[in-house]
Amino acid sequence: MKREAEARLHPLRRLIDDANHRYYVLDAPTLPDAEYDRLFRELQALEAEYPELAAPDSPTRRVGGQALDAFAPVRHAVPMLSIRTETHFEDAGALNFDLRMRKELAQGADDPPIEYACELKFDGLAINLRYEHGVLVQAATRGDGETGEDVTRNVCTIRAVPLRLATDAPPAILEVRGEAYMTRAAFERYNARQREQGGTPLVNPRNGAAGSIRQLDPALCARRPLSFYAYGLGETQGWALPATHSAILDQLAAWGLPVNAERAVVQGGAALADYHHRIAEKRDGLAFDIDGVVYKVNRLDLQRQLGFVAREPRWAVAHKYPAQEELTVVEAIAVQVGRTGALTPVARLKPVFVGGVTVTNATLHNQDEIERKDVRVGDTVIVRRAGDVIPEVVSVVPERRPMKDLVEPLHPPYVLPTACPECGAPVLRLEGEAAARCTNGLACPAQRKQALIHFASRRAMDIEGLGDKLVEQLVDKGLVATPADLYALTQAALAGLERMAEKSAANLIAAIAASRARPLARYLFALGIRNVGEQTAKDLARHFGSLDALMAADEAALIQVEDVGPVVAASLLAFFAEPHNRAVIEALRAACAWEDGVAAPRRAGVLAGRTLALTGALPTLSRDQAKALIEAAGGKAASSVSKKTDYVVAGADAGTKLEKARALGITILDEAELLQLLKGES
Ligand code: IVH
Repeated sequence: MKREAEARLHPLRRLIDDANHRYYVLDAPTLPDAEYDRLFRELQALEAEYPELAAPDSPTRRVGGQALDAFAPVRHAVPMLSIRTETHFEDAGALNFDLRMRKELAQGADDPPIEYACELKFDGLAINLRYEHGVLVQAATRGDGETGEDVTRNVCTIRAVPLRLATDAPPAILEVRGEAYMTRAAFERYNARQREQGGTPLVNPRNGAAGSIRQLDPALCARRPLSFYAYGLGETQGWALPATHSAILDQLAAWGLPVNAERAVVQGGAALADYHHRIAEKRDGLAFDIDGVVYKVNRLDLQRQLGFVAREPRWAVAHKYPAQEELTVVEAIAVQVGRTGALTPVARLKPVFVGGVTVTNATLHNQDEIERKDVRVGDTVIVRRAGDVIPEVVSVVPERRPMKDLVEPLHPPYVLPTACPECGAPVLRLEGEAAARCTNGLACPAQRKQALIHFASRRAMDIEGLGDKLVEQLVDKGLVATPADLYALTQAALAGLERMAEKSAANLIAAIAASRARPLARYLFALGIRNVGEQTAKDLARHFGSLDALMAADEAALIQVEDVGPVVAASLLAFFAEPHNRAVIEALRAACAWEDGVAAPRRAGVLAGRTLALTGALPTLSRDQAKALIEAAGGKAASSVSKKTDYVVAGADAGTKLEKARALGITILDEAELLQLLKGES
């Protein structure tokens, strides 16, 4: 046994060292966290079992990575510790931590429950902010915990980080510790742009944050917008500390530091488990990645009593959630044809539990992305699934390619087909476009299905109960070919479909009938004209008032509409010039009771004639809710800021729109001020 352990230790340490180097120094990880954790635990277990085999340079002896030469080293006044991970999943993790704390603090059964501060475990990069007399003088990464890197200039580009504390009586020295992170939206936006421009996308938001903070050029850092949440302290001088951790965070928030609102103070182990559940439910809906929650004994005197083991405080623990990245194998590569004919390659995967669900498919985006990652059938890949975003293949683990040393590879590089897999029509990739498209238009059954699914979707005609599966059947059975056919469906025709009881058939017919009265804006959006999104559809409906007027408009007339430029105008003209589209529109006109001009004429209201732009996360209203309120008051909710914008409504993590508004001298409102403005309506 010992000889086996000995043989395993060396490659294991090399694997972990290599993973550390790629992660911390190169910002190009090749192993998912979960796999890294497993290897690390395996090594820890082996070294615990055979202490005589321990080595002074084993990766278990050091936490974190080394500093890059390029940034000046910063010696931390108080070491930046790491935090122990509770290995029990589910409730046992929370209960176990509480039990341990009670034991360490010699609490009897009759003693009151221990009070804990619960927080999210942000998945970014730990940063120490040093304020002297209220002014930010230095920001540093954690590095190896003792010495980090001076990243002040880059951290200054994070808008969430105050450069000066909001107080007239700041402590002489205040070090704030927290996490720099990238929101999922910023990550998606950055990657969409990179894919469009043929650049290299980021692997995940955490990597985006780490890579961004460690850019030598602060301008590049600013291009990848980051955010920050405070969760603790380093050195302090000239401040009488409050008695609890939660009170410290309250004070930090009062001084203008961003502190996440999902934190809670609870009593006892069962309440920790409740918190873990509550956040698990919310995890997908958060604006950023978390990999778990953190429990901290709230009273500082108890924290002092508990002290530290090695480099970890005894009074805190991380309780993780299922990983958002995992390893699995690509069993096949299929191609999906979308509404606009775009071919999307999709990896069919050996089922894997990732981000809390079992994933069997992951997008490969397009041909360029497949080539960049060189994904082939049989490859072991890292799959990422976070939030509501569709799962994607992040990268290949090249060492695990089957028989990679063969001269002839077992599976050749993947190439998209040149004929549409659904209808056989030629596939064309236009110069400068990332997507290859089927050239068959709505004659292609796949495009037809996707067009119908879009037509019926919630933000378009909102036909309840008409989902993907049903559309598929309707098209395959020849019952429906165009949206107009939906309005001719009868209960008798539906009766023959799978899983279609009489009641659901009646409901569907009713839902279709109800959609006849949708306003022109929804109708325009539902038609699926390229480059005509929801907002453009609203603008067009408002401007022209009727479909006839819109269809009669030439380019000059179209570009009169706000936010409509030559590209959108060309899409509209091409769509209406197509005889097939005209035929469908005429058929819909005959089938629908829908009237022209029901296009939500500008209502008289306090915001009539006003254009407002929303940016950042508002404290209570969702983006959709705020938009609906503005529109209900007769205003227009625009997607960008221009000279025509009357107000900008800004929330947390507001980005470049806010900057632009300031530059243009536009009035900026917070949520409370918006609600105040709306109240004026009555
Ligand atoms: S407390 C002394 N709280 O997790 C305890 N850490 O190993 C210091 N992290 O890289 C950590 N969210 O950057 C704490 N709410 C939170 C956290 C958090 C994320 C990170 C931290 C560090 C790791 C802890």
